[in-house]
Amino acid sequence: MQLTKKISIAAPIFLMLTACGSKPALAPVTLTEQQNKLFQQSCQTCHANAASPAPQMGDINAWEKRIEKGLPVLVQNAMQGFNAMPAGGLCTICTPEDFEAMIRYMATAQTSTQNK
Ligand code: HEC
Repeated sequence: MQLTKKISIAAPIFLMLTACGSKPALAPVTLTEQQNKLFQQSCQTCHANAASPAPQMGDINAWEKRIEKGLPVLVQNAMQGFNAMPAGGLCTICTPEDFEAMIRYMATAQTSTQNK
């Protein structure tokens, strides 16, 4: 089974691929240079750290049930905080668009190889 990996970056919020109601999926995204920097300074501290209870970057299983809540809810939870997840994920200058991109970035498997 091969899912189409190359979906346009500008893809609108098509949360689910039309595949027969299987697993929820987010379209992969490429972070801008700025978002990448912010990500490394904040989210990555916990979301790419096995010692943290945070759902790990590229861990599809861990993200699956989160994605089911819907991307807008995840963006809101990231901004307002959620249990052990601090409000804004320690990123004070991230915009809602940044959060959305970073969440999609973490929740899609494309990040298993770190490029930095
Ligand atoms: C200090 C550690 C820490 C940082 C930094 C952090 N997170 Fe988290 N995050 C967590 C933890 C822990 C959870 C799991 C919370 C839970 O489910 O109880 C979490 C959960 C989440 C969730 C899932 C929320 C839900 O509704 O299930 C999202 C989305 C998220 N983080 C986004 C981000 C983003 C985006 C950033 C960077 C801007 C970030 N996080 C930075 C610790 C962190």
